[in-house]
Amino acid sequence: MDQLLEKIEQYKQEIAAIGNQASETLEAYRIKFLGTKGIVKNLMTEMKNVPSEKKKEFGQLLNEFKQYAESRYENWKLELESNGTSNEPGIDSTLPGDPIPVGSRHPISLMRNQIISIFQRLGFSVSEGPEIEDDFHNFTALNLPEHHPARDMQDTFYIQQNPDWLLRTHTSNIQIREMEKGQLPLRIICPGRVYRNETISARSHCFFHQVEGLYIDENVSFADLKQTLYYFVQEMYGKDVKVRFRPSYFPFTEPSAEMDISCQICGGSGCSICKRTGWLEILGCGMVHPNVLTNCGIDPNKYTGFAFGMGIERPALLKYGITDIRLFSENDVRFLRQFTSAT
Ligand code: DAH
Repeated sequence: MDQLLEKIEQYKQEIAAIGNQASETLEAYRIKFLGTKGIVKNLMTEMKNVPSEKKKEFGQLLNEFKQYAESRYENWKLELESNGTSNEPGIDSTLPGDPIPVGSRHPISLMRNQIISIFQRLGFSVSEGPEIEDDFHNFTALNLPEHHPARDMQDTFYIQQNPDWLLRTHTSNIQIREMEKGQLPLRIICPGRVYRNETISARSHCFFHQVEGLYIDENVSFADLKQTLYYFVQEMYGKDVKVRFRPSYFPFTEPSAEMDISCQICGGSGCSICKRTGWLEILGCGMVHPNVLTNCGIDPNKYTGFAFGMGIERPALLKYGITDIRLFSENDVRFLRQFTSAT
């Protein structure tokens, strides 16, 4: 009798220890404990060996054990039927979860990040500068002294309280601030927002974004500039892209150039986007003017450098097929949501 009681106790512990079991073992459990040759049946056959005065007590215990084993089986089965894998009753872990609304990156940020990452691969690091700038860093140091006619190229917003302050008209101010730090060589890429007093339309806005690049070291040449920009457009637009450099004028570079790429819409055959020329202008560039180096305390006889500046809006319009620049700043979620999975 004692042996039997001990056995029952062990079986109970065994059943209690069965934790999260996969569904295949439910049947194994049934056969082992509840089958026709199972443990419960076996124990029943022991009844004949129990002295008659103990039969009632043993019968009760056995019955209790049988119910315990059966209810474990029934619960287990129910759990599996209702939720597949979890043992928590009533939770179906195969159902899809509550959707978490995923935000999206702004198309300007997507474009900016792409441009930055290409230059980072070439060893450029990111620098930023202030949007409210003084006249010196936005103009004078960049070889645009007061009354220089080229200042009119950029319609500037001045700050009323202090006429020496303005909203930067380009990211070239960051060049100056970095060069002033005097740590050479310098290889930076500078993204940022810029402001110009222009009439807002589908094609232009009073603020937009640029990325500036600057490389200063000994013996930097125009060939380095061309190769760097060529690598950039190939990474950005693919190996088949064609480039051309046109002579241009910027006060802060000499010589200066503008770079065009073959039109990404028509492949160079001429369309309305490239105004039938087959080319799209994407950036301005040149060798940093010796006056600019001197203004920042750098010896132009020892160091040379190249710089370039490009807008972000235009390539983003092209890439995503957007026709109105104003969409970028309206924050209409119907527009923004379209970029949830864009890269
Ligand atoms: N700052 C010029 C602009 O806003 C763009 C630019 C042209 C930047 C040539 C440069 C450069 O660094 O070398 O139009």
